[in-house]
Amino acid sequence: HIIPVILSGGVGSRLWPLSREHFPKQCLSLTGTQYSLLQQTAKRVTSLDVSMPIVVCNEEHRFLIAQQLQEIGIKNASIVLEPNGRNTAPAIALSALEAKHKALDDALLLVLPADHVIRDTQAFEKSILQAAELAQGSALVTFGVKPTRPETGYGYIRSGDNFAVAEFVEKPDIGTAQAYLDSGDYLWNSGMFLFKAKSYLDELAIHRSDIFQAVSHAYEKRSEDMYFVRIDADAFASCPEESIDYAVMEQTQKAKVVTYEGDWSDIGAWDALYDYAEKDFDQNVLLGDVMSEGTSNCLVRSESRLVAAVGVKDLVIVETADAVLVMDKNNAQDVKKIVKRIQKEG
Ligand code: GDD
Ligand code: MG
Repeated sequence: HIIPVILSGGVGSRLWPLSREHFPKQCLSLTGTQYSLLQQTAKRVTSLDVSMPIVVCNEEHRFLIAQQLQEIGIKNASIVLEPNGRNTAPAIALSALEAKHKALDDALLLVLPADHVIRDTQAFEKSILQAAELAQGSALVTFGVKPTRPETGYGYIRSGDNFAVAEFVEKPDIGTAQAYLDSGDYLWNSGMFLFKAKSYLDELAIHRSDIFQAVSHAYEKRSEDMYFVRIDADAFASCPEESIDYAVMEQTQKAKVVTYEGDWSDIGAWDALYDYAEKDFDQNVLLGDVMSEGTSNCLVRSESRLVAAVGVKDLVIVETADAVLVMDKNNAQDVKKIVKRIQKEG
């Protein structure tokens, strides 16, 4: 029995001006389908025998997220609201407590970030079934992906015998990441996990009892209505901020890894979206009302007006009703700096 847990806490500021504080990245449809990343995530597991998902998200996005779930026929999800995100270790703990509360602590939690794209659903299902077997004991199972570049924003896993995790290193520096890649012995951590609610809570209590206690306290003080589970703001604010990767996966002796062989992408920034999308003859990704002449290797997206690109290359151009981004594709990480300045300077 599997419960999908959808982590939908981020805003995705590197995809500005499409992502906004009030309209986060996971609620956008970015990949040429009608469905948002969140909807795709929820739909991805419906062919498996899963129960209604638990969605953990920010209070501010509750109606948007409830509505998007409704649109794809999910009416009874448990939507757990964080007053302020404290990163993934607390968010996942909330989902585990919610599952326990519903007397489902033997159920398997399938933790899924809301902002990944996966095309190969067959390979995905295959690895989930494999992971489900491993998680029947008290293992915390992660899904490993073959690395293709020395990415420093990911976790790296070296596997030992019988699916055991011999080593888990979160966000290594570039030299270490390159050495891991060259050795051929490491997988990327995909950020998806499968374990029993109890297994995760037990390990969290061992390795980060401060987080375990703060989250337990905040969950006890929750309030509930027909639609939402609201976590107590003051209690949750005192919870340390940490990711599952540092808090638990790097520490635990109970980690196991299955290799997911299909495609996988974490659409973090415009260059990642460009890489993922299908390109035309000139290696352009043109979305919406866009014309181009003598233009190559560009991503151009229009929301409300005709956008024309002439004689340019390696640019990202994103037009929306109230903001336009023009950026060298190699600077895709720096959009964050603009978003920070907008927040500060108004
Ligand atoms: N509800 C909730 N609350 N969700 C959150 C919070 C939070 O406080 N913080 C992050 N999330 C969600 C994000 O929206 C995203 O879907 C997911 O949890 C992962 O968080 P990221 O912040 O994107 O993590 P990361 O990309 O730096 O690293 C993780 O993912 C990599 C693969 O994409 C790690 O697990 C790495 O090891 C992994 O390689
Ligand atoms: Mg991420």
